[in-house]
Amino acid sequence: MIEDRWRHGLTRREALLSLAGILAGSPLLGAQLDPRPFKDHRRSPGLDEMLTAFDFEPICYANMPLAQYDYMAHGSDSEFTLRRNRQAFDWVELVERPGTRPDAVNTATELFGMKLPCPILIAPSTRQRDLHPDGDSGMYQGATAAGTPMIVAGGSSIPLEKIAATANGPRWSQFYPIQNLGASRDQIEFFQANGAKAIVVTADQQTSRYERDLHDRHLGGNPRAVVGDDSVPVPPGATRGPARYRVNPRRMWYTWKYLDDIRPFIKGPMLVKGIITPDDAKICVERGYDGIIVSNHGGRTLDYVPATLEVLPEIVDAVAGRIPVLVDSGFRRGSDLVKAIALGASAVCLGRAPRWGLGAFGPAGVQRLLEIMQTEFRGAMAKAGCTTLKALDRTAVRTRFP
Ligand SMILES: Cc1cc2nc3c(=O)[nH]c(=O)nc-3n(C[C@H](O)[C@H](O)[C@H](O)COP(=O)(O)O)c2cc1C
Repeated sequence: MIEDRWRHGLTRREALLSLAGILAGSPLLGAQLDPRPFKDHRRSPGLDEMLTAFDFEPICYANMPLAQYDYMAHGSDSEFTLRRNRQAFDWVELVERPGTRPDAVNTATELFGMKLPCPILIAPSTRQRDLHPDGDSGMYQGATAAGTPMIVAGGSSIPLEKIAATANGPRWSQFYPIQNLGASRDQIEFFQANGAKAIVVTADQQTSRYERDLHDRHLGGNPRAVVGDDSVPVPPGATRGPARYRVNPRRMWYTWKYLDDIRPFIKGPMLVKGIITPDDAKICVERGYDGIIVSNHGGRTLDYVPATLEVLPEIVDAVAGRIPVLVDSGFRRGSDLVKAIALGASAVCLGRAPRWGLGAFGPAGVQRLLEIMQTEFRGAMAKAGCTTLKALDRTAVRTRFP
């Protein structure tokens, strides 16, 4: 009788019910169910199905771990500037003028004596090996195949000598200031000895904190370590000095004088990247630098600075044609390029877009993405009634910035 009570008692039944409940809610059981009943019909689109630069992004995303994707995609803090870079294109309308055929359009231009079939360059960006095993070399091959010059990041994920050996297209190098002048000279001379035809000095004072990455910590990613001094190893996770104020100490020390000091080391053109005010643009002209890149680092530096497209016209006016004004941050479409050139830019640099191409399909993806943007650009120029870049002026756009 005791045994019978034990087998049929309420307590046992309750225990079994609880166990069943646990099993039903368990991810183990969930894993047995197919969450995608139409999986036989799912497939990744191929390279020849890519229609716009945007099409490459989800494939790139699917090809890489979240932490690496987020390193590329994130902006700083609330990502206001990241969003605004794209939103700004909605505030510039194109003026359509019928009567021009796309094949009558010539998109060629010249920059510091370098001939470009289209006013596009690859912006410098680090960690390209996250995207594809060929990394920066793959980017360089794809860019060269599309006739696009590449600005190789000073912190490229493949040594510059190796990148240089993989293609023969025009190439510049980007340089992050180094406090020691001798080390600065060595690095700049190394870039030039390896074929850099111009040096881009990144001057935007990055004060970034990437909250996306910090959240990723919970998903297996590594939050970016910020350390106090390049020469002293700091235990993982530790911060000191200016890092406590969320300021990257490698980026907040330099002055205009430093740029003057390194100028003699640079044999060809020196461009300053990260200019977003007319006053700073004028300083660059007055100090004799050869060009500027209007950039907010793709929303990766100080959050809440305006979109580069918004500040471009006033910077172009301040420079008054004395040096070329390049621009980047948020460019994804041929019509985006039309807007920037109409507002006075000499050329546009692309950061994330060709990275999506590399991450999705390797060098062929970079080439295809660039060709799509070139074709879009030509088509949009034709619709704006412009057959040359010179003809593409402010009459081609109507700006309605808030
Ligand atoms: C993943 C990544 C890494 C970057 N690394 C660098 C760098 O090392 N040096 C630099 O001057 N800019 C760097 N940038 C900024 C780009 O040169 C460029 O200013 C920015 O990407 C333009 O915005 P877009 O990505 O919206 O086109 C990086 C950008 C990304 C997305």
